[in-house]
Amino acid sequence: MAIIAPSLLSADFLHLGKDCEMLNKSKADWYHLDIMDGSFVPNISFGPMIVEFISKATKKYCDVHLMIDHPEKYTEAFKKAGANNLTVHFEACNHLHRNIQQIKSLDMQAGVAINPHTPVDLLKDILKDIDLVCLMSVNPGFGGQTFIPHTINKIKQLKEMINEQLLDVKIEIDGGVTLENAKLIIEAGADVLVAGNTVFKSENPMTTIALLKSL
Ligand code: DX5
Ligand code: ZN
Repeated sequence: MAIIAPSLLSADFLHLGKDCEMLNKSKADWYHLDIMDGSFVPNISFGPMIVEFISKATKKYCDVHLMIDHPEKYTEAFKKAGANNLTVHFEACNHLHRNIQQIKSLDMQAGVAINPHTPVDLLKDILKDIDLVCLMSVNPGFGGQTFIPHTINKIKQLKEMINEQLLDVKIEIDGGVTLENAKLIIEAGADVLVAGNTVFKSENPMTTIALLKSL
C-alpha cells in the first residue's frame, strides 16, 4: 500500500479550506505542496504564507516540494510555516549536502528531487543522508502532464541502490500519476504517489484517493 500525497497545486484555491476538509476526511496520507519560483521552473505557485494556512488546516504530514533556486534562503520560513518535509532539487543545489544538513538541523525530514534527465546514480553519495527521493516523472512546473515511461526503470534502479546500502529512503513519484499507471509504479518500487489532476479533476476526489490507496 503506497502513501498517497495529493498535490494541492490542482486544488481550487478559491475554496482551499473546502479541499483541505475533503483531504482530511479522505484516505490521503500526506499533503504535497509545490513551491515554484519562476526561475528554477517556468511557473510561479505559492510560498510559505499559503503553506502556513494549509498546515494549520490539517494534522496530516506536509510534504513540501521546493522547485526553487537557493532553497537555503527559505528553509527556516517553511519550517515556521509547518513543513514536515522539505524536498530540494538536485539541479538547484551546488552544495546539496549542506542544504540537507540545514533542513535536518531544523528538525524536518529531507528529500532530494531529480528531473527526468538526471540519472539516479548521481544520488549514490547523498542517499544515506536523506529520507526521500522524489523522482520527477514529468518536467517540473505544471500539473496535468503525461507520465514519462522511462521513470519506471529509474524507480527499479533506485530501489536497488537503496537496498544495497540497507537504507530506509522512500521513493516518491511526482507527475502524471493516474489510476491506470499507479499499479505499475508501485510494483516497480515506489513508496509515495503524488497525484494532482488525477485527484482534483476527478468527479469524486475522495473515491479517487481511496482507489489509489487500495492498489
Ligand atoms: C509538477 C509538480 C507536481 C504536480 C503533479 O511540477 O511537482 O507535484 O502538481 O501534478 P499531476 O499529478 O497533475 O501531474
Ligand atoms: Zn511536486
